[in-house]
Amino acid sequence: MATYSKKSYNVSSYKDFRPTYPSKFFEKVLRYHDNDDDAKPSSYASIEGFNGTRELHLDLGCGTGQVTFPLSPFFKTTLGTDPSQSMIDQCKSSPEYKVDDDGLRFSIASAEDLSVIPGLKPSSVDLITAAECVHWFDPPKFVEQVAKYLKPQTGSLAYWLYVEPIFCDPKLDAIYQKYVYQDDRYMGLLWDEGKSEFRKWLKQSVDILENSKEFYDVQVVKFDQLSLIENEGVESRDLAVKNGKLSNGCELLVIEKHLSLDDYILYMSTYSALNKWYTKHPEISKGRNEDMMVLMRKDLEEAGWKNNDVKHIVWDSLYVLARKV
Ligand SMILES: C[S@@+](CC[C@H](N)C(=O)[O-])C[C@H]1O[C@@H](n2cnc3c(N)ncnc32)[C@H](O)[C@@H]1O
Repeated sequence: MATYSKKSYNVSSYKDFRPTYPSKFFEKVLRYHDNDDDAKPSSYASIEGFNGTRELHLDLGCGTGQVTFPLSPFFKTTLGTDPSQSMIDQCKSSPEYKVDDDGLRFSIASAEDLSVIPGLKPSSVDLITAAECVHWFDPPKFVEQVAKYLKPQTGSLAYWLYVEPIFCDPKLDAIYQKYVYQDDRYMGLLWDEGKSEFRKWLKQSVDILENSKEFYDVQVVKFDQLSLIENEGVESRDLAVKNGKLSNGCELLVIEKHLSLDDYILYMSTYSALNKWYTKHPEISKGRNEDMMVLMRKDLEEAGWKNNDVKHIVWDSLYVLARKV
């Protein structure tokens, strides 16, 4: 069971402190779906006429609704689904949700079995989204379910992930790496399978889509800031963040936040591995000297981060778009 489904996981801090997605990126996904994208691939001529319609949108692993709510105005009906009861409860208690609104519904379901979603029929969904969650799914089953439920020819899939928050400050980036991955006393060994399978999963799911006869026009776009800096310099990275595009015109998923040290620590508190760390160390009270978040905060302060300073943080990201044959 993913940590997000456990009672000890604080769903409301997930809602408050996780990053949201830029409207520019939602526009990109909708343009792709509508088949009305300026950044047309060379194979575009072959898909002319297959314009996606906007009847039904299905958001998998919806969490607290980071994609479900902003995309729902663009579709006649949006269904948000997640295996975690507490995530679904949080969505239903959101001010954006109205019980009698038939255009926005939530239900409990895993991406590997969509047949449990009330009233959902095969070949009926216009757009399936899955944000920051596909690494929890079983890739073949997920791809098989998406192919089954998307509308033939006009249905599309969009999934995306954000990976590490990057400061572009070597000292602060190193402290993040220490507490999150490198030092086994902290989160290093405590990542759920979902996270540790992350890279393998990305390769496997993209391979399945690219080799599948069920999908075409598969687009995979990565924003790897440290590689970009290494290859083209920090100015190229800063321009990419500012314009939301690489120098070759390729549109990026740019997720950024300006955070004080307090807010950064609150964001870190949403990491599933941190939840596991507290469970593993019942003897350590939150906020005491041995608490790893207190230690991390001390390191960040010693590296020069004063609480009133606001730091610009940009996440590495990846998105994948595909159309159903
Ligand atoms: C990091 S949250 C992402 C939530 C939201 N989509 C976002 O963009 O912030 C991951 C979500 O995936 C859900 N999840 C875990 N395993 C899943 C599965 N097999 N099928 C569907 N969702 C799953 C979790 O319950 C959790 O709500």
